[in-house]
Amino acid sequence: MMKAVILVGGEATRLRPLTCNTPKIMIPVLNRPFFEHLAGYLKKHNVIDIVLAVGKSPEQIQDYFGDGSRLGVRLTYSIEDLALGTAGAVKNAERFLDDSFVVLNGDIFTDIDLSAMLRLHRKSKAMASLALTPVDDPTIYGVVETDSEGRVRRFIEKPSRDKVTTNMINAGIYILEPDILNHIAPNTFSMFERDVFPPLLEEGQVVYGYPFQDYWIDIGTPDKYLKLHHDLLRRHVGNRGIEFEGESFVHSSAQIEGPAIIGEGCFIDRNSIVKGPAVLGARCRIEEGAVVEGAVLWQGCQISRGAKLRNCLVACRCRVGEESEILDGSILGDDVLVGRGSELSKGTKIWPGKNIGPGKVSS
Ligand code: GTP
Repeated sequence: MMKAVILVGGEATRLRPLTCNTPKIMIPVLNRPFFEHLAGYLKKHNVIDIVLAVGKSPEQIQDYFGDGSRLGVRLTYSIEDLALGTAGAVKNAERFLDDSFVVLNGDIFTDIDLSAMLRLHRKSKAMASLALTPVDDPTIYGVVETDSEGRVRRFIEKPSRDKVTTNMINAGIYILEPDILNHIAPNTFSMFERDVFPPLLEEGQVVYGYPFQDYWIDIGTPDKYLKLHHDLLRRHVGNRGIEFEGESFVHSSAQIEGPAIIGEGCFIDRNSIVKGPAVLGARCRIEEGAVVEGAVLWQGCQISRGAKLRNCLVACRCRVGEESEILDGSILGDDVLVGRGSELSKGTKIWPGKNIGPGKVSS
């Protein structure tokens, strides 16, 4: 059985304000912390020994996941006082690693067949194997060029359109031999794709890339976080399905259109509409005539009468005033009040693409 190192020590700046109070590995996906999905994926491939490579304030993660037994995995923590980068973080976890191991970026959701990748890795006797995934526009990524056998020839950072030879990018999933740790400087910031893999190629070490067509997304940006919800909703409840996670009140005149997941203890009042793909966290209150469409709400939100939410992300305990609108791509951090005072003012508009940080009042 392989061990896994999951890299979760990044800043998660692109997901702010969602990640201001919640580490990326803990943000809810279909109302479950993201790591639960990742742990489920690894378990499916018989990987249950997991080292979380965390940054300097890991308490929130450690307090929540503990030793992992609740999820059926064994968790240990490798803590960095200073950010060491993806490769430096793995070197920092060296004491836990004595056999082939898998490294994953902590923000990836995928169906890539890890067991198949391990078989290919063993067969090729590579020091490092990289999962590769296709993208539509390789010019904005670092691509990985391989020969016909799959051996990596070179890494090309953001190739110009006339120089594109492949659309395969590094999927952030590696199977590595412990010997690679001798090629990473200790206590020094270093990144695999920039500081470790290219020098290995120059030395003639064997590095393989395996192209996969399976589902793969990194939830590092709000649009991809929302897209993962939309994709997973269809997978879990079907195109029109509705799942209630516990008891909720739904008025007989309210409309819920799937795909949707409704957390427990929600209150969905008269003439309101929840239009999928949508997820309501536990104890959300959708008041009379409010419309929630294509949105993800974390727990405890209150959407007042006649308010409209469309394709937006709303973190815990937000209150949206009457007839307010929160539109395409907008994000509210925890505890945001849209409206003012104890009675929220009416008709505040949060324009497309606007972000509001935790605890702020917008009116
Ligand atoms: P942004 O600030 O939005 O770029 O987020 P990020 O740094 O969390 O994500 P990025 O895509 O840069 O990193 C990919 C993965 O590697 C994420 O799961 C990060 O948590 C993780 N990671 C990045 N840098 C470090 C690091 O210095 N140490 C550790 N342990 N993990 C890291």
